[in-house]
Amino acid sequence: MAMAGLQIEGLCAGYGPVPVLHEVSLAVQPGEIVTVIGPNGAGKSTTLRTISGLLKAEQGRITFNQEDIQGVGADVLVGRGIVQVPEGRRIFSKLTVLENLEMGAYSRRDAIGADLARVFILFPILKQRQDQKAGTLSGGEQQMLAMGRALLAKPKLLLLDEPSMGLAPLIVQDIFRIIKQIQETGVMILLVEQNARQALKLADRGYVLEDGHILMAGEAKELLNSAAVRKSYLGESL
Ligand SMILES: Nc1ncnc2c1ncn2[C@@H]1O[C@H](COP(=O)(O)OP(=O)(O)OP(=O)(O)O)[C@@H](O)[C@H]1O
Ligand SMILES: [Mg+2]
Repeated sequence: MAMAGLQIEGLCAGYGPVPVLHEVSLAVQPGEIVTVIGPNGAGKSTTLRTISGLLKAEQGRITFNQEDIQGVGADVLVGRGIVQVPEGRRIFSKLTVLENLEMGAYSRRDAIGADLARVFILFPILKQRQDQKAGTLSGGEQQMLAMGRALLAKPKLLLLDEPSMGLAPLIVQDIFRIIKQIQETGVMILLVEQNARQALKLADRGYVLEDGHILMAGEAKELLNSAAVRKSYLGESL
């Protein structure tokens, strides 16, 4: 019987004739933060796009809370609680912060007031800046906006694609602290990062992806202490 959370088995996906993912298997259990680390071009974003329904898998099985979601479109999956924060944030720079947040709730029919209030508690800066054009925000604030927008879609599983990209270390710490707080509200998190050290410190479990293959998997603490990970992904010379 399929288990709760996200389960991926033998996933193959790519762009046209070019294969990118080779039999990728991974899982996110209820309550977990799971990270996928790996270098540029490893297939991290491709993995997230396949899960969120933006890209169709060629082979393999994806289930979410016991339901087969392979081939289900992105819009439908948002309604089922799988929400992606894309690489590069993709906020609407000409719209205000508040309008961007409201875009996150486009598929909902219910009132968003309570969720908006929760987002403003997690990200007080967004409340202060709610009437400002999103394009005037700093990179860190734009990342917060992209995450806040995703939270307004009421995710059960949040897919985060390199939230730390291009941000100063202190801002990265802020963002990662907030990811932890989001986990504590019961949202499962799949975090894709090149910042392997920070990601492994935050996550419960991790996978190392390289050239579309899962090379290693385990408890995040074990991976942080593994000589192979430290040498290849944490930039330590041993
Ligand atoms: N739209 C596309 N069309 C064709 N090939 C693509 C497309 N997007 C990505 N690729 C290729 O797929 C491979 C994996 O890319 P992907 O973006 O998934 O890597 P990544 O691990 O997210 O890298 P990064 O850390 O740079 O974001 C790369 O070889 C890339 O060139
Ligand atoms: Mg990427």
